[in-house]
Amino acid sequence: MSMLEKIRQSVRRDQVFDVLNKQDYSEVDTSHGTILYVEDVSVSFDGFKAINELNFYIEVGELRCMIGPNGAGKTTMMDIITGKTRPDTGSVWFGQDINLLKMTEPEIAQAGVGRKFQKPTVFEYHNIFENLEMAMAGDKRVWPTFRAKLSSEQHDRIMSVMDTIGLTEHSTQRAGALSHGQKQWLEIGMLLMQNPLLLLVDEPVAGMTHQEMDKTGELLTSLAGEHSVVVVEHDMDFVRSIANRVSVLHQGSILAEGTMDQVQNNQKVIEVYLGE
Ligand SMILES: Nc1ncnc2c1ncn2[C@@H]1O[C@H](COP(=O)(O)OP(=O)(O)O)[C@@H](O)[C@H]1O
Ligand SMILES: [Mg+2]
Repeated sequence: MSMLEKIRQSVRRDQVFDVLNKQDYSEVDTSHGTILYVEDVSVSFDGFKAINELNFYIEVGELRCMIGPNGAGKTTMMDIITGKTRPDTGSVWFGQDINLLKMTEPEIAQAGVGRKFQKPTVFEYHNIFENLEMAMAGDKRVWPTFRAKLSSEQHDRIMSVMDTIGLTEHSTQRAGALSHGQKQWLEIGMLLMQNPLLLLVDEPVAGMTHQEMDKTGELLTSLAGEHSVVVVEHDMDFVRSIANRVSVLHQGSILAEGTMDQVQNNQKVIEVYLGE
């Protein structure tokens, strides 16, 4: 059976919400310690090279921060990994043998790549518990049936994610009434319900208060280890507070990589940021 066929089958299994709706990731071979390989990737829009010979690797369980000036290609990079944009050249592998460039967006999500967009997309008229429940069901249309059959194990899983995102006290509150920061955490929780191996998060702290930023930093740090997390962020103080390894993206390629101190003292990086 081909990989795609296996993934399609697991999608169907999922739609009939078998047992726990937990995906089988035995397929993602991370035996070499690397979960994502992005190699020699380029993409042009109307002749403009938004991504230019991009190369980077993400290790299993790491928390990587990607910084770079506006227009550096950060969002496009995520679009390529998640199947929204097809590169002109290069390869993107999930583990040793899953070729993400041959898969559709839903297949990539199903394989274990979760993406958090900048704008939260929670269901405003439903409470927090229900939002997480819907994310677990995977589809709002099957939610009522799913809900009627919710096992105690599934219930516990929702409670555990609610605890992780720090919203247990607000479980019956309508999502529309949450603060901007709380909505962002709820959306991260909704992604977690799908049990992604790799989480891509685009500018998570934009518009947040300092207190919310601190909590977001703690949340993302706590997710690393069990998940691999790639955070794209503009806010340098925030990156400094959570960063382990940092990649600087500039004109569609990696300009520098290392600890925050290393990249901040890198002459090429200083020039790019001074020129901004
Ligand atoms: N679909 C698209 N069509 C045309 N140009 C695009 C498209 N997506 C991105 N770009 C261009 O590619 C460059 C990189 O954009 P983006 O990835 O959004 O940068 P960043 O997220 O780092 O700010 C920008 O110059 C942007 O205008
Ligand atoms: Mg962007």
